[in-house]
Amino acid sequence: MTDDAVVPHSEHPDLASDATSDEDPVNAQVEQVDGRALPIGTVGDSRTDVSLVVPTFNEAANIGHLLRSLHAVLTRTGAVFELIVVDDDSPDRTWATAAEIARTHPEIRVLRRTGASGLATAVICGWAHARGSVLGAIDGDGQHPPEVVADLMAAMDERTDVAVASRHVPGGGVSNWSAVRRLLSRGAQALGLLLLPGTVGRVTDPMSGFFLVRRDVVATADLDPVGYKILLEVLARGDVLRVVERPYVFLERKEGESKVSAGHYLGYLRHLMRLRIHPLRSRALMRYLLVTVVALVADAVTFLWIFDRQGWNLTRSAAIAGEAGILLTVALHDLWTFAGRAARSTLDRIRRLLGVQIALGTLLAGRLLVINVLVNWFDLGPLTAFCIALAAITPVSHLLGSRLTWRRITA
Ligand code: GDD
Ligand code: MN
Repeated sequence: MTDDAVVPHSEHPDLASDATSDEDPVNAQVEQVDGRALPIGTVGDSRTDVSLVVPTFNEAANIGHLLRSLHAVLTRTGAVFELIVVDDDSPDRTWATAAEIARTHPEIRVLRRTGASGLATAVICGWAHARGSVLGAIDGDGQHPPEVVADLMAAMDERTDVAVASRHVPGGGVSNWSAVRRLLSRGAQALGLLLLPGTVGRVTDPMSGFFLVRRDVVATADLDPVGYKILLEVLARGDVLRVVERPYVFLERKEGESKVSAGHYLGYLRHLMRLRIHPLRSRALMRYLLVTVVALVADAVTFLWIFDRQGWNLTRSAAIAGEAGILLTVALHDLWTFAGRAARSTLDRIRRLLGVQIALGTLLAGRLLVINVLVNWFDLGPLTAFCIALAAITPVSHLLGSRLTWRRITA
């Protein structure tokens, strides 16, 4: 947590003219932050269990009731918590209303952000100032029912990375949405599934703005969202292995209007495209491709040496060469391509190595079959058969391998 972006009210270039002063008890509660993107620290403060961020823009009529309900729900869980309102300098002074409540509820913090706007970046700004080992997001207009926070916290066991409140699991839903709104929401999800199947397909409600995430999942990720879809950003760029979902019903707004405009749908498209091309620029992908080439060459050279030089039979030579390729792939990916993102526990590592061995081993068996068919039925030369089989099976093995083990290569 850093406080170099937090300045007292009276010294803030945009706010000094505001009639009230630091002595004003309400403003004393408000942390002024500017629009700079701050990193999310890898370590929080061990005494705080959860930090729930509430992004607000013109929610003065809703924020009071919501904060009190959330405070009651979180207090009942027995966890050490903080509620962080991130208000983008709302003209209706939502930040002042929230600060008024913070005066009597020490767990509530209010960040008044100037020079930036957007739901998703507001949530990240809150996380960058948060202390908890678990971070979260909930809308500030009361459409996300506060009591569901307790369900999400109960779901966040030590193996879970993200707990999502979903409208699309049994028991979930929306109150009275028009057919058009349902169509737009499902259409957006379908488009996401098309462009980012590995990300959007991981949850039933990727558009949900209501979830908890483990700090270390996002602390190392270079989050850079557009518009509203903070969960999408976390699933695509975060180090997410296990996701659980809990149902909730999206309630009707009591006061005010949704801030969603046509521009947000364009923003969503831009966000999808940005996440689509992100892996192509990733260092992991470059290393992945290099390791793939090295393993293929090692596979071919081993085969040539055993089959040609040692004179062993075709299947045995191809089997040994193939296994050499698999072991090299596993070792290099674990030690180089995904160094630093490795398994959390030895059990995780063994589980992943076994997964690779079984996946790639199965395909190696397939490759041996193809080689034998090509040589015995189509009279192809052993070397040609070996190359055709290698070229045919390799793409499949990488698709399967990456899905089973190193998820984050292709979003
Ligand atoms: N700080 C900040 N800055 N907060 C914002 C901004 C902004 O620019 N824009 C919106 N918010 C706050 C609102 O004040 C509200 O608390 C919350 O973000 C959600 O905004 P709404 O405008 O009410 O969104 P919605 O109800 O149409 O859609 C919500 O629910 C959908 C379904 O879960 C959002 O959470 C969507 O992301 C989500 O898909
Ligand atoms: Mn809303």
